[in-house]
Amino acid sequence: MTRTSQIELGDCTHHNLKQLKKINSVVFPVSYNDRFYLDVLESGELCKLAFYNDIVVGAVCCRIDTLANQRRLYIMTLGCLSPYRRLGIGSIMLNHILKYVEKDGNFDNIFLHVQVNNEGAIAFYKKFGFEVVDLKQNYYKRIEPADAYVLQKNLKDNGITTVDVCQQNGNGNVKENGTSSSIDSN
Ligand SMILES: CC(C)(COP(=O)(O)OP(=O)(O)OC[C@H]1O[C@@H](n2cnc3c(N)ncnc32)[C@H](O)[C@@H]1OP(=O)(O)O)[C@@H](O)C(=O)NCCC(=O)NCCS
Repeated sequence: MTRTSQIELGDCTHHNLKQLKKINSVVFPVSYNDRFYLDVLESGELCKLAFYNDIVVGAVCCRIDTLANQRRLYIMTLGCLSPYRRLGIGSIMLNHILKYVEKDGNFDNIFLHVQVNNEGAIAFYKKFGFEVVDLKQNYYKRIEPADAYVLQKNLKDNGITTVDVCQQNGNGNVKENGTSSSIDSN
């Protein structure tokens, strides 16, 4: 596999929901309930499948969170199958979400939970300007380690949107410039 292969994002629909479930069951150590998948079908641009040469290899699912006068975007899941990692697929999914919040212009921040031992994911998100802002002890109920970091990227600074989105070329490659409500283990 090379980074020049075709990587595309596509909608989650009733027709490919089983593929999303399969991806999530393989990639994440927690399972997601029916409510999660019902919501996904209503999520539009906030839930996307990643295709590598027309095969589904990854997915991202987010939801809008409004709490304490903040409008936030929560990344519930973002992952790809292990043989397809380090090919830029995660970056393409995250850039899609960053472009969404940038276009919206009205999000305070974007955040997610990650298991404390998930060094690869932490490195990935830090590359995009996310920072560890909290440690949630015993966040996960049935997996070890049970603790989670909250990773967050602030999007507003004195009212100015500060999203840095990596530029992508036509092949989907990335030129550098720049879980919770529905998990059953929770
Ligand atoms: C985190 C994850 C989505 C990254 O996806 P990916 O397609 O491999 O990411 P990319 O190829 O776009 O990586 C972009 C950059 O992030 C960094 N990065 C990604 N994975 C990394 C790892 N395992 N270790 C260190 N840095 C890493 C690198 O800087 C990489 O650039 P490079 O390959 O040119 O060095 C993927 O590892 C995954 O699916 N993990 C399991 C699910 C998960 O933990 N999701 C996070 C919680 S939602």
